[in-house]
Amino acid sequence: MNNDYAELTINGKSYAFPIVEGTEGEKAIDISDLRKKTGYITLDPGFVNTGSCKSEITFIDGEKGILRYRGIPIEDLVEECSFVETAFLLLHGKLPDQEEYKRFSDILNESSLLHENMHLFFDRFPQSSHPMHILSTMINALSTFYRHVDSESVEGDIFKSSAFLISVFRTIAAFSYKKSIGEPIVYPRHDLPFCANFLNMMFDSPVKPYVIRDQIVSVLNKLLIIHADHEQNCSTTAVRVIGSAQVNLYATISAGVNALSGPLHGGANQAVIDMLMQIKNGGKDISKFIDKAKDKDDSCKLMGFGHRVYKSFDPRAKILKEECHKLLNIIGVNDDLLEIALKLEEIALKDDYFISRNLYPNVDFYSGIIYKAIGIPVNMFTVMFAIARLPGWIAHWKEMVDSEDRKIARPRQIYVGYTKRPILRD
Ligand code: SDX
Repeated sequence: MNNDYAELTINGKSYAFPIVEGTEGEKAIDISDLRKKTGYITLDPGFVNTGSCKSEITFIDGEKGILRYRGIPIEDLVEECSFVETAFLLLHGKLPDQEEYKRFSDILNESSLLHENMHLFFDRFPQSSHPMHILSTMINALSTFYRHVDSESVEGDIFKSSAFLISVFRTIAAFSYKKSIGEPIVYPRHDLPFCANFLNMMFDSPVKPYVIRDQIVSVLNKLLIIHADHEQNCSTTAVRVIGSAQVNLYATISAGVNALSGPLHGGANQAVIDMLMQIKNGGKDISKFIDKAKDKDDSCKLMGFGHRVYKSFDPRAKILKEECHKLLNIIGVNDDLLEIALKLEEIALKDDYFISRNLYPNVDFYSGIIYKAIGIPVNMFTVMFAIARLPGWIAHWKEMVDSEDRKIARPRQIYVGYTKRPILRD
């Protein structure tokens, strides 16, 4: 058997399955005809060992802490590019030239207004509604106001429809915040770039004009860039699965928003701040909290720690830790939650429980402290993650739609329930 095949022996009979190798040397066994050949299927709860697709969008090396979008390291993107350029890179495979950037920016600007009749929806949500629930509802409702974009109509459309969705998504997020605090919505401005426009829609007010600070715009661009994609994470997988049934793009993205809202996924950034506040209000007894996180009988986890792929430092956490210190120094904020986070990290990284399980800070561990310093309310943290992740979701949806081996996602199972039995009435 040569290295191009994996050999499987079942009941004394051998079967060969092709080995697939990626451009970074990752290897997979192609089992697409396993059941036809052997009658067996594989079983892999949580898809820990299962690749769902081939992709050219994002590369992660969990052991070396590498993250690249279309081959470009995120460390270079945060230093040299804007979020809008990065979104274009994820969607179209290259950074935009001047003409492409202008056309993309023009569509982002023209698409930033939300249909006026949709504004009425905000007034009907209960005051206590979580912004992620409002966001997923409003995104789904876009397909009732705007022409569908689905896998059949996407060809010439993806450039315009992705820019439209990226822009109006941001407007909906800002409007939902304003409505939640009872302030008048602030319309997008044609003269502001993407991040500055968002901050202005969030924080400007008729009685207190918002002063846009370059440092805040810069750190928001970096935050959005490092969250923009992450290969086959839970919410991106949800987008690929829902999209595989030829659901329109807006409903597909709404499913991604819902998956991201989970506390084990994008909701972790809000859970980290809640955890740090809990430690602060409980007397800052960090060791006691760590013991709870290690206790198998306690559901408590060290939020912002651990990752399915990164078994070393999440490169995004490294960037955010640095940005945290820089931003708090610039705006002159001394946030004791950062002090608690640093102490928590220091203790955990010396504790064998975390070391032996390769548990390191992930992207969510520091992001909340930065959002808080910018003035973003805690219940909007995961919305920020969604605004950033949207280009990644759309890029994966498009890659799935365009793939030659596109199929509706429909995994198998091993049935462990009752065997055939009659109706028995008690
Ligand atoms: C994101 O997938 C992505 O790419 C996601 C993301 C993206 O950009 O899309 O990176 C964004 O979702 C980051 C993760 C945010 N979530 C959190 O910070 C929540 C806290 N972390 C854990 O829930 C957990 O680490 C996960 C969900 C992130 C990963 O879970 P896995 O890979 O399924 O690992 P596991 O639950 O099997 O844990 C392995 C062991 C277990 O202990 P043992 O059974 O071996 O004794 O590690 C323990 C777990 O109990 N463990 C933790 C822990 N994370 C794992 N123990 C305490 N605190 C933690 N945070």
